[in-house]
Amino acid sequence: MSEENISVLLEEKRVFKPKEDFVRQTNVQKWMDKNNIKNLDELYKKTEDWKWFWEKISKEMIEFYSPYKKLIEWDVPWVKWFVGAKYNIVHDALDKHVKTWRKNKVAFIFEGEPGDVRKFTYNDVYIEVNKLANSLKKLGVKKGDRVGIYMPMLPELPIAMLACAKIGAIHSVVFSGFSSLAFRDRINDCEAKVVITCDGFWRRGKKVYLKEQADVALEKAPSVKNVIVYKRTGDGVPWTAGRDVWWHDLIFDAPKQCKTEELDANDPLFFLYTSGTTGKPKGIIHAHAGYALGTAYTLDWTFDIKDEDIWWCAADIGWITGHSYIVYAPLILGTTSVIYEGAPNFPGPDRWWEIIEKYNVTSLYTSPTSIRLFMKYGEEWVKKHDLSTLRILGSVGEPINPEAWMWYYKYIGNENCQIMDTWWQTETGHFMISPLPITPLKPGSATRPLPGISADVYNDKGEPVINAGGNLVLTTPWPGMLRGIYKNPDRYVETYWNKFEGIYLAGDVTRKDDDNYFWIQGRADDVLNVSGHRIGNSEVESALVSHPIVAEAAVIGKPHSLKGESITSYVVLKGGANPTEELRKELREHVGNEMGKIARPDEIWFVTDLPKTRSGKIMRRVIRSKALGKNVGDISTLSNPEAVEEIGNAK
Ligand code: WTA
Repeated sequence: MSEENISVLLEEKRVFKPKEDFVRQTNVQKWMDKNNIKNLDELYKKTEDWKWFWEKISKEMIEFYSPYKKLIEWDVPWVKWFVGAKYNIVHDALDKHVKTWRKNKVAFIFEGEPGDVRKFTYNDVYIEVNKLANSLKKLGVKKGDRVGIYMPMLPELPIAMLACAKIGAIHSVVFSGFSSLAFRDRINDCEAKVVITCDGFWRRGKKVYLKEQADVALEKAPSVKNVIVYKRTGDGVPWTAGRDVWWHDLIFDAPKQCKTEELDANDPLFFLYTSGTTGKPKGIIHAHAGYALGTAYTLDWTFDIKDEDIWWCAADIGWITGHSYIVYAPLILGTTSVIYEGAPNFPGPDRWWEIIEKYNVTSLYTSPTSIRLFMKYGEEWVKKHDLSTLRILGSVGEPINPEAWMWYYKYIGNENCQIMDTWWQTETGHFMISPLPITPLKPGSATRPLPGISADVYNDKGEPVINAGGNLVLTTPWPGMLRGIYKNPDRYVETYWNKFEGIYLAGDVTRKDDDNYFWIQGRADDVLNVSGHRIGNSEVESALVSHPIVAEAAVIGKPHSLKGESITSYVVLKGGANPTEELRKELREHVGNEMGKIARPDEIWFVTDLPKTRSGKIMRRVIRSKALGKNVGDISTLSNPEAVEEIGNAK
């Protein structure tokens, strides 16, 4: 990335200050009052002593079985937090609550797409988790074993995750929208012993038969000994006797109590696979105690969680957002959460607004893509509903354009709600750069690093820059930080720690303004952000090339008004093959089968050659510039400069 190439986002001058009476009652303001901190600047200043801060906050947020001997061991880039402590996240998420009045508080309100509703109190979740945890043990799952989970938005998904955590097993959830093959790759990489899935689920009025998809993956997954199937639709499913077992049969007479395993604070809690620039998705490792603290603190301070709140994080649990802010953080804080199974616009474009009205939702956390979708339908759909219970709104996954921000602020928040534009990643585990409820907002900016977090913007020489695009970096360790990439320590070091010594490279182009506000502009590397989801260009290329007719492929992202970025691919066919409309469709479906529907290219162009360097590397950047009608720069060093012309004329 050259500095000249980094475009600087338009200058947004508007500032929205939170109302004083709102500020006064926030959790963060009360914390500041208690600690004699007078204003935001002083808060940031004081918390530059991050060790002091995390030590203090950990005492307020989480409960260890036995105390730690050392706050942190930082052997760059390997970290351990709360060294020597015994801990399990399930203690904070469930066990501690059932000993208090929260035992009978609702933890999850589940609404199925067809309209069916189920409510789970903390005690209900606790009992279900215990029963499943005992059943997993009966199947031979032990501490450290991996369990692959392929489930949609059902309350049984958090229950399954917590049951694994309870006994010290490591869950690896795969988004239910990913294809069989994507699921297969992931369970093989982590060598899952058991898989948990369901017969099917509802999406846009139709049933998706997930067990059938899981079975395709399981044809070649030798490590998997048993498959637990939750019954959602009740339709018949293919069955492998001896391997498959119904969830309800398995837990039928399982004991209702199960001792929570007292783990080392740094034992792994889960792996979650995410896209990188090269090769296969990376299995990001997160550990129990640091992750628990980081997620709980950030949710509490940023969204100002109160006991009366009805929290709705509308992400999918299959992504990090759902892991952290549907499952773990809300439970640790004893919050009531909404889980909705289906499509946002089914049966009508006001399904979400209906849900907010029905359950008196107080905070909505979603992605700019969803906001733009609702913007397209128009505010008439919003106005049909009473959304006056909303207190705080949130956005995540991609830069939010100021227009979408303003629409969200005006029509959903009724100009009354702070908008939390939270920047973070699968790797960071929790929010890193985000407003607090007391922060003056600028539309399109995630504002400043949260207390305890140190972020900066560096040019390629590693010098901090202001008012210019550069590399977003994190300069001190944080509790929820990833503990590596499963089975690939070298890739961990190379991806995040090689560019600047001892400094974490996030991979996002960012600008910092005079007020220290961060403006995240998008990925600096070859990773696409489609509807807030990370997809590696190289993964889509491999999927295309795995089709027998394709010789070579290059994938680029184009700006898209709804999805942020759309996937555009240039394909070279093997000798003599004819480019046809049918073939275009077939290749699209092929990528869908390989990876999942979200990775299907929006555009497929056929060309006879792709621009390459003399060493044979495909020049995505040149292709992208040409495709967008921008200056392609000096192409004289390419081995085939004429291929650039063809990109412009591709059919
Ligand atoms: C992008 C999702 C701008 C960014 C939690 C990051 C954002 C990647 C924001 C991580 C935001 C996330 N503003 N960009 N508020 N939040 N991103 O791992 O490019 O699925 O690196 O985690 O999403 O995506 P991931």
